[in-house]
Amino acid sequence: MPNRMMRSCSLAFLITFILLMCFAVSANQGNRKGRTAPELYARNCASCHGTDGRAKTSKGKFSHARDLTDAKWHDDVTDERIFNSIMNGRNVRGNMPAFSDKLNEKEVESLVGFVRKFKG
Ligand code: HEC
Repeated sequence: MPNRMMRSCSLAFLITFILLMCFAVSANQGNRKGRTAPELYARNCASCHGTDGRAKTSKGKFSHARDLTDAKWHDDVTDERIFNSIMNGRNVRGNMPAFSDKLNEKEVESLVGFVRKFKG
């Protein structure tokens, strides 16, 4: 009798474990899908810089966000500076928040490429 109880107990444990694994895998996939550069930009940046990069949103105007389509700025700025500005923020002419606690280096690198595509 105790033996059978132990067996059904470990079976319940096994089923719970498998369900948890399925959940973890699917949650992880959902996460990965949402972390492409366009998704990251839409979620973290567009509120200030706008979906078109021109920073015409009210939050963008309020914080003096940079127009990311400005061709002259693109010519003057290095990829490294863009990377650092996203990671650490920038408070020279406005108030750009830091993203090093929200995004990893790979994600910020992909955003540098994404920002470059705004060049008008
Ligand atoms: C709260 C509003 C806000 C959000 C959100 C925001 N920015 Fe900015 N961003 C700014 C402001 C303001 C500046 C101008 C900062 C300055 O020059 O002092 C700026 C500047 C920049 C620059 C120019 C930096 C440089 O070195 O010249 C880039 C590139 C940039 N943002 C990209 C992004 C990306 C990518 C995101 C999302 C991960 C983002 N920003 C999110 C407000 C914001």
